[in-house]
Amino acid sequence: MSSRPIGVFDSGVGGLTVLKELIRRLPKERFVYFGDMARAPYGPKSKETVTRFSRQIVNFLMKQEVKAIVVACNTASAMALEALEKEFELPIIGVVKPGVKAAAETTNSGHIGLIGTEATIESGIYEDYLKEYRPDVKLTGRSCPLFVSLVEEGCIEDPVTTEIARRYMSGFKDTGMDTLIMGCTHFPMIEDTIQRAVGEGVRLVNPAFETARSTQEMLSEKDLLNKKDIPVNEEAYRFYVSDAPERFRRIASLFLPLSIGEAKQIAIEEY
Ligand code: DGL
Repeated sequence: MSSRPIGVFDSGVGGLTVLKELIRRLPKERFVYFGDMARAPYGPKSKETVTRFSRQIVNFLMKQEVKAIVVACNTASAMALEALEKEFELPIIGVVKPGVKAAAETTNSGHIGLIGTEATIESGIYEDYLKEYRPDVKLTGRSCPLFVSLVEEGCIEDPVTTEIARRYMSGFKDTGMDTLIMGCTHFPMIEDTIQRAVGEGVRLVNPAFETARSTQEMLSEKDLLNKKDIPVNEEAYRFYVSDAPERFRRIASLFLPLSIGEAKQIAIEEY
């Protein structure tokens, strides 16, 4: 069981920021990544739809005989994780809880900021989890949907992104927060720009990093960590998409420090 791969999924390419951290922390693990390129973005979609999509993806990943699943997408973690945990028996971990926990441990002022997609911000799930760790801490959210497109267009260090960040953060950054959760897969890619826009006094929390740590802990607790070295090749890291494999490969090269082999297109609606 422990030599089986870990399944990771996202609405598209963004989840590769999570995969990157997972590979860094768990170099002996194999991964199967699914990017739902045909149905992205999830950010503006309803809970019902995102849950249905996520369920199909978990079914697909289970057919790949994964030992655990990481929901790399913030939107899917916010909207579908609870349903998935009830429906499936294998360990499923999302990015919301690890991010909230790290932010709750970081804040001194007792005020956390959250940026993400509309769906993530409106779900209220961050507030719910925060109540479990630090009911005394306040959270203010701001949706920043344009960041997703800017990153996918490769506008990483770019004046347009700087200006959009300045507008998103103006007013928001002055609400008293000292910690800001980058609650969307794409945002760590423009961490420096966000940091400049929000000011040096605010600490950024990257849920991708925290999720990799939580995944390691969870696998260790369940005695599921792979102990043997693995060859770093296309068999160790497999990629599947619901559409646009070439676009996926192209954007993936921005996100991942390793070149990915083929991304196989599959009919996700059949799962
Ligand atoms: N992966 C999504 C998230 O982390 C961002 C892109 C989308 O809206 O699908 O929320």
